[in-house]
Amino acid sequence: MAGLYGVIGDPISHSMSPLMHNAAFEKLGIEGSYHPFHVRKENLENAIRGVKALGIKGMNVTIPHKTAVMEYLDQIDPLAEKIGAVNTIVNDEGTLTGYNTDGLGFIKGLKEFAQESIEMKRVLIIGAGGAAKAIYYSLAEQGISKIDICNRTKEKAELLKTRRSSFVQTEVLSLDSVQTNLGLYDIIIQTTSIGMNPKIGEKPLNVAMIKENAIVSDIIYNPLETSLLKQAKELGARTQNGLDMFVYQGALSFEKWTGRNPDINTMKEIVLTQLGGQHVNR
Ligand code: ATR
Repeated sequence: MAGLYGVIGDPISHSMSPLMHNAAFEKLGIEGSYHPFHVRKENLENAIRGVKALGIKGMNVTIPHKTAVMEYLDQIDPLAEKIGAVNTIVNDEGTLTGYNTDGLGFIKGLKEFAQESIEMKRVLIIGAGGAAKAIYYSLAEQGISKIDICNRTKEKAELLKTRRSSFVQTEVLSLDSVQTNLGLYDIIIQTTSIGMNPKIGEKPLNVAMIKENAIVSDIIYNPLETSLLKQAKELGARTQNGLDMFVYQGALSFEKWTGRNPDINTMKEIVLTQLGGQHVNR
């Protein structure tokens, strides 16, 4: 019997996950199908009951349910607990476990792009929202110890820092003050929504002072090259857009559901085609 999978969110029609996962199933010859489900807040609990009742094998969870869904699951993986959000549910014979693959997906993409060890690198995260949290705690779990955070609202970044593992060294900075110190960082990770379509002219800060050869990674993939990445590239940085994070977070979910490694290139290509663009990472 074909396995049933899906994603719940509100809105959901824009999601590229169904396209990506169905292509991955097809490529591996697995009988599986993945559907988008539009679930409003007031229906979340019933939707999760439905996952159990219908024997849906795996789900992704997207905005705005990533945190609210946690109380309806049977178990939460420790990293997802720390992040305070779940993007993946595994249904194991009626037991639902919540995971968060956003941060680890980001790191997998970053490591592949960097082609070198990132453990000793000095990292700056721009932003302190949900995505930043997933990336920050996942970087810490991977043993990266020098991670600074800058955010418009400094208190939010302080809160992330308070809950970090003891070995992580973190300084919290304002967007203004970090601009003159950008030369300190080997890897800069942009996690805010600034620069996302349609406001493609905006960027969270000016990166004129970055180190040559720094890696600048933006989690936005629409547009494929944000203003921030464009400026960074002109200054000699290596730039990566958010397509890799999107694909790898999906690939990690897929592995948890099926025990199989999906074909990353198939997934990447189908999403890229849908975005109508050229891959600009270099
Ligand atoms: P997500 O879950 O996608 O990370 P979020 O939790 O709403 O979204 O977080 C959005 C991030 O983008 C935050 O770091 C936010 O800064 P604040 O904490 O100060 O709100 C940042 N952000 C969004 N719009 C911004 C803007 N116009 N200027 C500066 N920062 C902005």
